[in-house]
Amino acid sequence: MASKDNGERDTLTIRDNRTGKDYEVDIHEGDVIRSMDLRNIKVHEDDFGMMCLDPASTNTASTRSAITFIDGDKGILRYRGYPIEQLAERTTFLEVAYLTLKGELPDQSQLDAFVEDVTFHTYVHENILKVLDGFRYDAHAMGMLISSTAALSTFYQDSKNVRDAECRWVQMIRAVAKIPTLAAFAFRRHRGLPYVYPENELSYTANFLNMLFRIGVKEYRPNPVLERALDVLFILHADHEQNCSTTAMRVIGSSEADPFVALSGSMAALYGPLHGGANEAVLRMLGRIGRVENIPAFLDKVKNKEEKLMGFGHRVYKAYDPRASIIKRTADEVFEVTGRNHFLDIALELERIALNEQYFIDRNLYPNVDFYSGIIYQAMGFPVEMFPVLFAIPRTAGWLAQWEELILDPEQKIARPRQVYVGFEERNFVPMEERGGEVSAGAQPVVV
Ligand code: SDX
Repeated sequence: MASKDNGERDTLTIRDNRTGKDYEVDIHEGDVIRSMDLRNIKVHEDDFGMMCLDPASTNTASTRSAITFIDGDKGILRYRGYPIEQLAERTTFLEVAYLTLKGELPDQSQLDAFVEDVTFHTYVHENILKVLDGFRYDAHAMGMLISSTAALSTFYQDSKNVRDAECRWVQMIRAVAKIPTLAAFAFRRHRGLPYVYPENELSYTANFLNMLFRIGVKEYRPNPVLERALDVLFILHADHEQNCSTTAMRVIGSSEADPFVALSGSMAALYGPLHGGANEAVLRMLGRIGRVENIPAFLDKVKNKEEKLMGFGHRVYKAYDPRASIIKRTADEVFEVTGRNHFLDIALELERIALNEQYFIDRNLYPNVDFYSGIIYQAMGFPVEMFPVLFAIPRTAGWLAQWEELILDPEQKIARPRQVYVGFEERNFVPMEERGGEVSAGAQPVVV
């Protein structure tokens, strides 16, 4: 039982009015109670005990973590304690990937070694190309990335040794290095273009752009403004604590599956339009709106729940997503090079109107990381199918850091949530000739 010097106790007293019994539950780390402490609350001794029901875990912490801190009310985002604004301004993505994975900013020799390791692991086994060649000509790049990432698991059987630190680090290097290659190859496959192999003298983002866009020239060197813009976007997408796809990484990792199949599962979660697929959905939404004059009619549809304002809203940020502000500044730099496009005009006007409409203000709906990133990617020449892929590449570092934190956490074990059963009580088998054919209402879970 925790208690302070002034006799105040860090506990909750819970009275079960069914029995009149009081229960003392410890309060940990500020405002946290452990769900298992509720199991003592029972009516009868052989009851299972009290449990929490929390669909989508909106108020349930699944872990302790030291990787990313978010304050949704103040619009704060920090990786390992460093504010995102400083990292976006003063580091490179590989420096942030090292920080995310190792917990500290690297010194020069550590960074040089990490960059060299990543640079020399960018090639993939040639057989992987046969996996990609098996897809339809118009296969979505995200489907190809998810599949080929899982295929890496079959080439690195040693990756199953998840309890071996050195082995984990080798797989992390492989994943950070090879995912951009797989992404670029998926893009080239989608476009019907020959694969362009990694070039070791290029930076991480320049090499990626080279593998994507080099056509018919001996040497391709991206515009340095675009190279830096992509590096900043990668920094902004590196991690975001216990979001949907990170939860997938942790749940899959908790069964001690290898990191490549776990990454593949995380990418699958990210692909959804409510998560990392939102940047693609934003561009398609702006395309449907078509012109600035159509914005009021579109927002009416949103208020009537016929449409969602993609790129707006967030489970945690109830103020501006700090990444959106940085991305908006980056967009200006990109458009200096690529020229503005009408999507930006629609997006700026959409944001201006939405931020002044009571419907969005009442629901704390602000632009999130996906609202402007898609517009930048489109201006840089990426097709919309590549947008979630551009999210998955940098988030690979965050997923791996979260995965290793789970593996090393003595409190963690295989994920196995409980349920509240609302189905039928026991009933006897019905022979075919006695069945009525209609689906009884009882077959659907009742919303309690
Ligand atoms: C990412 O979790 C992370 O950290 C994710 C991420 C990361 O880095 O990993 O930040 C990346 O996924 C950003 C989010 C990208 N998704 C989108 O932009 C899709 C559009 N946004 C929404 O689908 C929504 O805002 C969510 C999914 C992001 C958050 O939804 P919540 O927290 O479950 O909020 P909710 O659905 O309970 O909405 C509350 C109210 C509802 O209205 P009422 O029922 O109260 O009348 O707000 C409305 C919702 O209908 N609402 C929206 C809306 N988002 C919420 N209405 C219109 N358009 C929207 N975008």
